[in-house]
Amino acid sequence: MSIPFDDKLISEAKKSAAIKNLETASIRQIKKLGDFIEEKTNEKILRMEMGIPGLPPVKEGIIGQVKSLTGYQGDDIEEKKLGEILNPRESVAKTYPDIYGIEPLKKEMSRFIKNFLNLKIEPDYCIPTVGSMMGAFVVFLTMSKLYEKKNKILFIDPGFPVQKQQCEILGIPYETFDVYEFRGEKLKKKLDSILKNGNFVGIIYSSPNNPTWITFTEEELKIIGEMANQYNVIVIEDLAYFGMDFRKDYSKPGEEPYQPTVANYTENFILLISSSKVFSYAGERVAMLTISEKVWNTESDDLKRYYRNFDKFGNALVYGTLYAVSSGVSHSTQYALYYLLKSVNEGKHNFVEGVREYGKRAKKMKELFTKYGFQIVYDKDGDEPIADGFYFTLTYPGMNTGKLLEELIRYGITAISLKITGSEREGIRACTSLIGLDKMETLEERLKLFSENNPIV
Ligand SMILES: Cc1ncc(COP(=O)(O)O)c(C=O)c1O
Repeated sequence: MSIPFDDKLISEAKKSAAIKNLETASIRQIKKLGDFIEEKTNEKILRMEMGIPGLPPVKEGIIGQVKSLTGYQGDDIEEKKLGEILNPRESVAKTYPDIYGIEPLKKEMSRFIKNFLNLKIEPDYCIPTVGSMMGAFVVFLTMSKLYEKKNKILFIDPGFPVQKQQCEILGIPYETFDVYEFRGEKLKKKLDSILKNGNFVGIIYSSPNNPTWITFTEEELKIIGEMANQYNVIVIEDLAYFGMDFRKDYSKPGEEPYQPTVANYTENFILLISSSKVFSYAGERVAMLTISEKVWNTESDDLKRYYRNFDKFGNALVYGTLYAVSSGVSHSTQYALYYLLKSVNEGKHNFVEGVREYGKRAKKMKELFTKYGFQIVYDKDGDEPIADGFYFTLTYPGMNTGKLLEELIRYGITAISLKITGSEREGIRACTSLIGLDKMETLEERLKLFSENNPIV
């Protein structure tokens, strides 16, 4: 069957993925729909729906993991064959790792935070988690128990849909607003109007942002920090795309510029730093959770309702929640992250260069989409156009979100609706991770056909 695919195939594909309405379909459902079409037609779908990092993982991590699993300690592992180095007595597989993380890793995390954010955070407050997914989960859970009458989370949207799902399954109340109309100084009034209700314990956002790739300016980070101080709210800053605003080079350890962060404006912060995208380490599910000294030591009698032995936030989170959820992170994976961070901290691996490819793809993809009549929805940070990176957002004149998703599928292109991210705008999120530069020709052919068959009036 050729492109555009016919309605019958699309409706069968929707059925196979249990999709009633494309605008509300989840990322995984869109993936299933794409798989179905590929299987039935032998045509490759241009997949823009899933944020899978498609680049090779950072080598030092793999070597570190092999070392820790085999029990071999030498530096010549690349030349050795597995049989020669296997030493099960020394393998970390046999022992439980500490739930708060192995000591060498915690030190490298603290060093990383100093090198690339210019913040001094003691290793004690740096905790590995099973992906930032688990980081957010344990933070939401513990935070919501901190104060009986102050347990809501505020999402500065658009955002990563699964984090709301986490709050929902944990029964945590939350509110959201779309930041599109509230950039710059307007953010202050908006945050003030919401936070003054007094029952919020946390605010969460990602910057660079999934799904829009907007990045908060210093002015905006300052506003968020000041509001967090005024209302005693903890900011969860999700840095899943650490250093990936390629407009600036954040890659040099200990040198300016540093990755922008709200931590420069408030002590009420928690940072989530995923290794999935920036180190292409998604498969091993490991991330850094960094808690400010002030937040760690926040005391509340209300915590004792759930954590019998702890009245400090940090202790409740680690010895209460993390212990109960997974008892820490797989031992060898912690070594992977340790070796990987060590090479980054020593300037041996430039982590930004490793992922700059996504920026190149975004630039080309945006050129093609706009050439064929599409528009970028979230297009600016202050007066500056948004960076080229992992995601961007699109609309097509005269088409609402559902129609646009449906039409694009007929041309073998999948993406997700902005609606599921908390956006109030019409549009879709495009992800660059699976559209390598070698696919641009196919993308152009399909977009050309799309625009010919859908003329803008
Ligand atoms: C904003 C944001 N936060 C968190 C995550 C999850 O990160 P991890 O793979 O470390 O669990 C993602 C992954 O796509 C993300 O986009």
